[in-house]
Amino acid sequence: MIVTTEKLFEAAYGKYAIGAYNINNLEQTMGLFRGCIDSKAPFIIQISKGARSYTHKNMLEALIRAADEIFPEAVFAVHLDHGDEATCMDCIQSGFYSSVMIDASHEDFDKNIEITRRVVEAAHARGIVVEAELGQLGGVEEHVQVSEADAHLTDPETAKEFVERSGCDSLAVAIGTSHGAYKFSGSQALRFDILSEIQKKLPGFPLVMHGSSSVPQEEVERINAAGGQLKGAKGVDATQFRRAAELGVTKINIDTDGRLVWTRVHREFFKEHPENFDLRPPGKEFMAAYAKFIAEKNDYLGSAGELDAVWKLIKG
Ligand code: G3H
Ligand code: 13P
Ligand code: ZN
Repeated sequence: MIVTTEKLFEAAYGKYAIGAYNINNLEQTMGLFRGCIDSKAPFIIQISKGARSYTHKNMLEALIRAADEIFPEAVFAVHLDHGDEATCMDCIQSGFYSSVMIDASHEDFDKNIEITRRVVEAAHARGIVVEAELGQLGGVEEHVQVSEADAHLTDPETAKEFVERSGCDSLAVAIGTSHGAYKFSGSQALRFDILSEIQKKLPGFPLVMHGSSSVPQEEVERINAAGGQLKGAKGVDATQFRRAAELGVTKINIDTDGRLVWTRVHREFFKEHPENFDLRPPGKEFMAAYAKFIAEKNDYLGSAGELDAVWKLIKG
């Protein structure tokens, strides 16, 4: 069942975080639903601009509608990840998305508010919720590389004003993570001090953590052993998700780790079966591995086992 993030965040606030997973194709869709049902977790499906144009914007909608029928017990939001204003408006008008992210974080403070406000007005008129971003993460986003020098952390002093003036429903904050497989040049450090300050200014307000893949070293080593060349890849310690959740983070975005699972499965498969040219055997292996990966992530997030409680909340 497709829901907005409102009820999901209400259920999760202060206790656990909902996993927000990017999808691009059929195999990720099936693995994601399977993993969330196996671990009894509510979840958020994220679709980026790049994912919308990978085949056709209607293709992922059809896949998700089919998955919703195949897994009727699933509860999830359909969310546009890192939208610009035009893409947000298109998703709002589509009648399919239950949540959009307007990412005007590269604009100055007032312009970010102005753009976010326009998207909020259009979205709320159709019962859709809006995530906005204040501060800027480093790393790769929609093929744009944001250097560490250009990245900046969210200023807790302005967060409240931003939320009040923009009317957004949740806020993505920059607290030291970055997008992609190469996070943290030194030792990893999430800025819980800043997160805690933001929560004090915005008690009860849902916060979002982007760039939260863990880049498991075992995964990286297996990829490299099967011919990959990922050097110095590093991610967020997943054992810190619960602490972030206690400080108001209700949504944690994970994309890169899923890509690593895909890469590992396919590299190992073709190394072990050089004679193979059928796409289905590695596809099947990937769906099973992705489902397992999602269920494990939901354990770290604390969303595993929460599906029944969310159903109760929805049904009132
Ligand atoms: O933050 C970006 C997400 O990982 C989506 O990546 O724009 O390459 O689909 P993408
Ligand atoms: P990762 O690159 O850490 O998976 O972050 C994904 C993300 O923030 C999507 O919006
Ligand atoms: Zn992101």
